[in-house]
Amino acid sequence: MTQTSHSYLNKILIVGSGGREHALAWKMAQSERVRKVFVAPGNGGTALDSRMTNIAITDPEQLAEFVKKEGISLTVVGPEAPLAAGIVNIFRREGLKIFGPTREAAQLESSKDFAKSFMQRHKIPTARYQTFTDANAAHEYVRKEGAPIVIKADGLAAGKGVVVAMAEDEAHAAIDMMLSDNKLGDAGARVVIEEFLEGEEASFIVLVDGKNILALATSQDHKRLKDNDLGPNTGGMGAYSPAPVVTPEIHARIMREIITPTVQNMAKDGIPYTGFLYAGVMIDATGTPKTLEFNCRMGDPETQPIMARLRTDLLTIMNHAVNGTLDQIELQWDRRTALGVVMAAANYPDTPRSGDVITGIAPETSDCITFHAGTTLKDGKLTTSGGRVLCVVGLADTMKMVQKLTYEAVDRIHFDGAQFRRDIGWRALKQHHD
Ligand SMILES: Nc1ncnc2c1ncn2[C@@H]1O[C@H](COP(=O)(O)OP(=O)(O)O)[C@@H](O)[C@H]1O
Ligand SMILES: [Mg+2]
Repeated sequence: MTQTSHSYLNKILIVGSGGREHALAWKMAQSERVRKVFVAPGNGGTALDSRMTNIAITDPEQLAEFVKKEGISLTVVGPEAPLAAGIVNIFRREGLKIFGPTREAAQLESSKDFAKSFMQRHKIPTARYQTFTDANAAHEYVRKEGAPIVIKADGLAAGKGVVVAMAEDEAHAAIDMMLSDNKLGDAGARVVIEEFLEGEEASFIVLVDGKNILALATSQDHKRLKDNDLGPNTGGMGAYSPAPVVTPEIHARIMREIITPTVQNMAKDGIPYTGFLYAGVMIDATGTPKTLEFNCRMGDPETQPIMARLRTDLLTIMNHAVNGTLDQIELQWDRRTALGVVMAAANYPDTPRSGDVITGIAPETSDCITFHAGTTLKDGKLTTSGGRVLCVVGLADTMKMVQKLTYEAVDRIHFDGAQFRRDIGWRALKQHHD
């Protein structure tokens, strides 16, 4: 190139409004070939960053119109809902480049029954299961199998569709809640009942271009609200990368036994998978991984520490991903450990309170970044506007060091009713795995 003209620079669209999307936009904005990152609808953090522009559109058809009008060269989708609604199908029909699975491929997440029968058909390791629409038959199955047992709504339920029943009566109550009382609507009109698996969970996230697979750095999150993994389930209260539980040997097994057969057989079944593919895996005491579920997107908060460690240009990666050439690229990672601590609003996860003023977020440094989620910027004032508000990500050579520096940053941030855990990363400090 003989000159750097603005017209050579790309405009990018990130769809979503959480911490995951802020982290993707942040990494994308660092590319020398990116001029502007639009975020739809974005949050207070993406509003504060001069390289980003929030746009108040969520309808996929209208987003496609915006992308054409604005000359946006590439769209990356964060959350599952627009994917399950077919945003990728719509964009492709309009000839627009977008990274994510089609509506059909997104069924790996949007229907647990689809995912389970796919895995069973192709002998991909997962918990034994049966699917029910009839409550009596489901109760009967639970009586036969006994507890512990796991009841899962088939459809998307924003993290509220799974009951890990340690006692039989909890399982019966979950069946009644989903199948008889329709508390989850269509999402719970069909339930998967599966065998309880023991072990340690990890998040395994890869990029897929239909055929080639590129693994991201390993990560692990903390789902429970309170320290020591107690309290209610949440979207995730913190995460870190790398995850020592995923040893090189387990990494190879997950790739060989779960990820590769999934991608190959989706293509064989006529539903080629493109996009981020996230396998939630349970690793037992012998190091055997089994699939808990698939997500058709990156995890939140896993994305935040993963993006903080990514050295390779994200636009280059995404271009390979949409062009089907992921086999031509290798990823470079910061060798340090990244730790993300989520700060959530008062009353999260039930009925998070909005409108609390946020102060004390330190400017970004080379070892600490604060990604926003449920925040709103109005008249120069930053307030809470969602369940998970911020994710503070630190980078340091060891878990102990990164905990110290990240929590120092967390302790300088204030909003009324803030909830966060003090022990994010504890599993990585442990010698043994349970
Ligand atoms: N078969 C299982 N055995 C033990 N725990 C499970 C099992 N399936 C799910 N879980 C637990 O429930 C959580 C949520 O289940 P998951 O399948 O990931 O559904 P979702 O993320 O859609 O709510 C998992 O992260 C895991 O902790
Ligand atoms: Mg899950």
